[in-house]
Amino acid sequence: MTFTSNSVAETERIAGELAATLCGGDVIALHGDLGAGKTQFTRGLVRAFGGDTGMVSSPTYVLLHIYPTPTLTIFHLDAYRVHSGEDFDSVGFDELLEQNGVTVLEWPSRIGDRLPAKRLDVKIQTIDESSRAILIEDHRSAD
Ligand SMILES: Nc1ncnc2c1ncn2[C@@H]1O[C@H](COP(=O)(O)OP(=O)(O)OP(=O)(O)O)[C@@H](O)[C@H]1O
Ligand SMILES: [Mg+2]
Repeated sequence: MTFTSNSVAETERIAGELAATLCGGDVIALHGDLGAGKTQFTRGLVRAFGGDTGMVSSPTYVLLHIYPTPTLTIFHLDAYRVHSGEDFDSVGFDELLEQNGVTVLEWPSRIGDRLPAKRLDVKIQTIDESSRAILIEDHRSAD
């Protein structure tokens, strides 16, 4: 599915539509360059689940943010500063995946083969200052 967003609010709305299809245990890999809107997209997910969006920011320095919501917990990771899959193992990613929350990961290309095959890929492309192309691929039933 491909969407076009012309504002932050639209990006959040598209994330909200995706949120309606999510279940505990789902993993979302958020692809896109610096400033593409990965964190804004995550904010839309947290809003759709009824969580506190004031807490949502890019966890670049702390690697992991945890947002409780009335139904499930959202784990928000940013691997921008991760240099290898091995480097990422200290985060306890596998344990996180067992928590039955929704796990959202920015810069998934940094963690190599640690990324589960069963996941959703969200690819955000900057078109111009306020427009983004958002491609959503559902690989949750992958082998
Ligand atoms: N249509 C849009 N959707 C999302 N963000 C937009 C849009 N138009 C403009 N922006 C701006 O783009 C920026 C996106 O920032 P955001 O922190 O979400 O990017 P990011 O992909 O998480 O970057 P990083 O890799 O640095 O963490 C914000 O400043 C936001 O206001
Ligand atoms: Mg970010």
